[in-house]
Amino acid sequence: MAKARTIFYCTECGNETPKWAGKCLACGAWNTIVEQETAPKAKSGRSPGVRSPFHAVKAVSLSEIDTAEELRFHTGMGELDRVLGGGAVKGSLVLVGGAPGVGKSTLMLQICGSLCGKNRVLYVSGEESTRQLKLRAQRLGVGGSNLLVLSETALEDVLQAASEEEPDILIVDSIQTLYNGALDSPPGSIGQVKDCTMALMQLAKGRNVTVFVIGHVNKEGSIAGPKVLEHMVDCVLYFEGEQHSTCRILRAAKNRFGATNEIGVFEMMDVGLSEVENPSQMLLSGRPDGAPGTCVTCVMEGVRPVLAEIQALLAPASYGNARRSSNGFDFGRAAMLLAVLEKRGGLKVSACDAYMNIIGGLTLDEPAADLAAILALASSYLDKPIPADLAAIGEVGLTGELRAVNNLDQRLSEVCRLGFKTCVVPRRKGKAPAPHEGLRVVEASNIGEAIRAALGK
Ligand code: TYD
Ligand code: MG
Repeated sequence: MAKARTIFYCTECGNETPKWAGKCLACGAWNTIVEQETAPKAKSGRSPGVRSPFHAVKAVSLSEIDTAEELRFHTGMGELDRVLGGGAVKGSLVLVGGAPGVGKSTLMLQICGSLCGKNRVLYVSGEESTRQLKLRAQRLGVGGSNLLVLSETALEDVLQAASEEEPDILIVDSIQTLYNGALDSPPGSIGQVKDCTMALMQLAKGRNVTVFVIGHVNKEGSIAGPKVLEHMVDCVLYFEGEQHSTCRILRAAKNRFGATNEIGVFEMMDVGLSEVENPSQMLLSGRPDGAPGTCVTCVMEGVRPVLAEIQALLAPASYGNARRSSNGFDFGRAAMLLAVLEKRGGLKVSACDAYMNIIGGLTLDEPAADLAAILALASSYLDKPIPADLAAIGEVGLTGELRAVNNLDQRLSEVCRLGFKTCVVPRRKGKAPAPHEGLRVVEASNIGEAIRAALGK
């Protein structure tokens, strides 16, 4: 009999190595390499029944393929449709990743409610019993004879159920609990997770079933996360949210059928997730009154302008080395803005500890947020609040100049819609921004002018 072999793999990126290491050589993550015994070659072959039923070997001419039939369908959740690029695509495999407890099962069960009106839906859970599922579904107000549930973890049984029930939509909760008995490795290991995903992919393509797979993201590295599956599946969505906030953001990390720059915003309520159609309003709802160190900006999330609040705190550093920390804002970019503020703005921020935070769990990766960050920092340094009805949009260059941003008109409309009265924007030669009723647009060429406009200094 062939001997079992031990390999090591990274739970973040799936890279295999023959030896253990503290840091993954492929993705650079620390403490993510785990040991895994692989099945001997002869045994590792899949049982023939698992893969073959959906397999048909025949190449077809591209022109013969009929696309008249509507390929996309709506999931009943506008925010999810938006992230998927305008609805789910029939026969695709969508991976929904997120930390445990963020609300992945809730989201999937909720879409079942509207999907089962027109389609047959099979919800397979390896984490909850059918009774628990029923209780949860009742609480969410989801039900119907077209919604089938199954509490199962064996891949073969799931595939069998799928071929017997012939659902249009299959939901698997979660990929880490699913296992193929033909493999020796335990559920949640990289071999299992990959193998089960591959089998589900074949089911999706072969039978034109839309499959949603839930995958836990786990930092400890004991189970393989969705990262290792990203290359296999059609769409990867990440569901994010902070532990103490009810705001949840869904974003696409990969989408074979659409753009990946859209976000969906939800709020976790007592009766499940509710869609937030006006994210700007929600993100700004808890703004402090008259406090120094906060400024509002407008970023583009896909084609949608969203207002975000940037908070900064500068406090005198007690030791030689000033502390720097940023949450939701690129650390390197924050350090650069502090340096620009010191050299071009004339504020002695190098002697201060600096903290930056984006409210609501948003991540700002757009340079258009620079100016608001600079103003929040300056406001905290000077201990002077920025007027609550002032927003700022613009990129900051190394010489302290303000640079134009794209979609300015759209951003100004959103700022105006949310009731802001003043907006500081970069000055553009010979081209004034379009007027918006009730909004005073103040143009500034550098950060000095912008700070004067916002803080009157
Ligand atoms: P869940 O969907 O089980 O998370 P996941 O599948 O991602 O692990 O959501 C669990 C959390 O959501 C739990 O902490 C409770 C909360 N929750 C609500 O606040 N309201 C609800 O209606 C539901 C169903 C869950
Ligand atoms: Mg769950």
